[in-house]
Amino acid sequence: MNRPLPTSPAGRDHQLAGKKIAWITGASSGIGAALVRRLVAEGHFVIVSGRNRDALLKLQQPSPKLIKVLTCDVGDDAAMVEAGRALAEITDQLDLVIACAGVCEYEDDLELDVKRYRRVFDANFFGVVNTLRQALPLLANSRAPVFVAVGSLSSVVGFPRAEAYGASKAALSYFMDSVRADTSRVRLRTVLVRPGFIDTPLTKSNDFDMPFLMSPERAAERILRGLSGNASVIDFPRRLSWPLRMLGVLRPVWYKLCAPRMTRIRKLRNT
Ligand SMILES: NC(=O)c1ccc[n+]([C@@H]2O[C@H](COP(=O)([O-])OP(=O)(O)OC[C@H]3O[C@@H](n4cnc5c(N)ncnc54)[C@H](OP(=O)(O)O)[C@@H]3O)[C@@H](O)[C@H]2O)c1
Repeated sequence: MNRPLPTSPAGRDHQLAGKKIAWITGASSGIGAALVRRLVAEGHFVIVSGRNRDALLKLQQPSPKLIKVLTCDVGDDAAMVEAGRALAEITDQLDLVIACAGVCEYEDDLELDVKRYRRVFDANFFGVVNTLRQALPLLANSRAPVFVAVGSLSSVVGFPRAEAYGASKAALSYFMDSVRADTSRVRLRTVLVRPGFIDTPLTKSNDFDMPFLMSPERAAERILRGLSGNASVIDFPRRLSWPLRMLGVLRPVWYKLCAPRMTRIRKLRNT
């Protein structure tokens, strides 16, 4: 059955021109901003979200007609319902949604500070659930809807200090598998992107070696290239993803040989 053309200006113009209408969270910096620049360069209409409105407005400046700013905190359930309403005023169709918003906080000395875990899960896991919840009715109006979540290669094996971050991305990975299973009879493509180390504000304070560090522009190119195929998981760079995936299978090797070289814990706290 043919769906009626969207009635909002963004929807109608873009569908007729064969261009996509996209919503990208985490667009105010790093990988998200690089994705926006590439999509806009190809003529697509992009709604950009994040908490930092100034950064989003700066991103919008060169292409005010193709970029619409929608400020929101993806981890705030009520604010996301509001964002959903605002989204529906901008367009009645979304062809591509990339849930890229995320934060990273490391464990030190296994403090197990639950507040830290909640902050990380709010952005990295519940943020994606909120994003999909608001996007789904608009994705349903697209002829070829795609929902992308940005996970991390860190969820393939247990990295020292990454208890909160890696667990949030592992939960996201299961969530995406489950959504994929649940939508296997309907027209929605779901894609999990798992980057290695990317040179963005998120990794700026990392004080350890980051093998095969990539620029956000190169990461955006890899993601869009992957999306042009039909993969449901996009891992990169391959030089890192292949060995990690192998170690994910040979888990004793990782925990006996690699992890002891990486952990900073030499003694358990007794207080
Ligand atoms: N850099 C890496 O090495 C790497 C590796 C694997 C996966 N990733 C993932 O890639 C994604 C993008 O990260 P990045 O490296 O590009 O880092 P980044 O430059 O710090 O970008 C993170 C983005 O997420 C947004 N954000 C964070 N919390 C948010 C919230 N509660 N609500 C709305 N937006 C929020 C930030 O915007 P505001 O501050 O404006 O809200 C920012 O735009 C993240 O999911 C990250 O986990 C990164």
